[in-house]
Amino acid sequence: MKQKRIGIIMHGVTGRMGANQHLARSIAEIRRQGGVELRDGTRLMPDPVLVGRDAGKLERLARAHGVERWTTDLDAALQNASDSVFFDAATTPLRPTLLKRAIAAGKHVYCEKPVATSLAEAMSLYRAAKKARVRHGVVQDKLWLPGLQKLKALREQGFFGRILSVRGEFGYWVFEGDPHSSQPAAQRPSWNYRSKDGGGIILDMLCHWRYVLDNLFGKVRAVSCRGATHIPWRWDENGRRYRADADDAAYATFELAGGVIAHFNSSWCVRVRRDDLLTLQVDGTKGSAVAGLRDCRIQSYGDTPKPVWNPDVPQPIDFFAGWQETPQGSYDNAFKLQWEAFLRHVAGEGGFRWSLLEGARGVQLAELGLQSWKQRRWLKVPELKA
Ligand SMILES: NC(=O)c1ccc[n+]([C@@H]2O[C@H](COP(=O)([O-])OP(=O)(O)OC[C@H]3O[C@@H](n4cnc5c(N)ncnc54)[C@H](O)[C@@H]3O)[C@@H](O)[C@H]2O)c1
Repeated sequence: MKQKRIGIIMHGVTGRMGANQHLARSIAEIRRQGGVELRDGTRLMPDPVLVGRDAGKLERLARAHGVERWTTDLDAALQNASDSVFFDAATTPLRPTLLKRAIAAGKHVYCEKPVATSLAEAMSLYRAAKKARVRHGVVQDKLWLPGLQKLKALREQGFFGRILSVRGEFGYWVFEGDPHSSQPAAQRPSWNYRSKDGGGIILDMLCHWRYVLDNLFGKVRAVSCRGATHIPWRWDENGRRYRADADDAAYATFELAGGVIAHFNSSWCVRVRRDDLLTLQVDGTKGSAVAGLRDCRIQSYGDTPKPVWNPDVPQPIDFFAGWQETPQGSYDNAFKLQWEAFLRHVAGEGGFRWSLLEGARGVQLAELGLQSWKQRRWLKVPELKA
């Protein structure tokens, strides 16, 4: 069996997403399975070099995942011509500068979302990659989630009839992190709640909702968004109290090409009483579906109950019973599947439409969402030209 090495500079891998989803669940897993198979049977084998600021953390991470190379010297890593891909999962505000450095060094680039904190920066990054003729991509992991794959299959089978609306409920309670209380420690990094560090749920989540809607239900044409900062004080990783000035909830409505209306509630200040941390309900003329991250339940027109409003008697219908689970199937990790597609693309096999331009579209929707909140009005989403 022929093997071909592909050198990947992995930046930001000591963080939550970098360590768990990108290193452990994707690159280390691809190495364990013997690489990515190309058309002629050659196995494309990732050879990562971990890059960051903390040598101790990098060394521990490298050892844990059987990775031989790590460094705190980003410049030297970028100068190594035998590593052709640069990946970034570090903090958002640094991303455009870092990626531009990598592009200038001739690397193909792949990164977490959001690609930037403003549309202007995101477009400038896309143009730099296009001009340098490097291959580029952005993480759009939700598209590979089993629950969303099942929705896509239902839509393609015509199960919904004409799709009318999509309701997204995302979120859970993120603890404030007060070390002097008995509450659990905060489960998300503190920068998420500070505007100056690229925090805010609108920037974070509207990027996701853009590609989910564009790809599954119709291009997003207009947005109305109301953000909120419900919890104004939190405690950081060092137990220091800080002003949480970024939005921690967003109530956003979208108009899609084709007439579908989508509404997404995103919140880090909500307690979960639904099937999953993200649920998407799709209602169509012929049937409805509710998908979580992995599962998906459907109700056809024929199975639709006929409720009658009467608060004087206990509800006679068990509304949760009238849904059928769709077949489970077997699905690989969403991040890993997208990594495999990107690596094949870099090796010259297969397109990769989840580009920096797509990443810019996500930032565009987030920026318009913030603007809509500030101006208290609906805003059109102009087409971004390649
Ligand atoms: N695709 C998704 O579903 C998803 C989910 C969560 C986060 N993200 C994105 O992933 C990125 C990282 O988020 P996270 O939750 O892992 O954050 P995190 O705080 O856990 O990790 C941040 C990483 O950036 C590094 N870093 C911070 N400041 C730096 C600096 N000045 N120089 C170099 N490195 C620096 C940290 O050392 C760490 O490795 C963000 O852009 C975030 O929006 C994506």
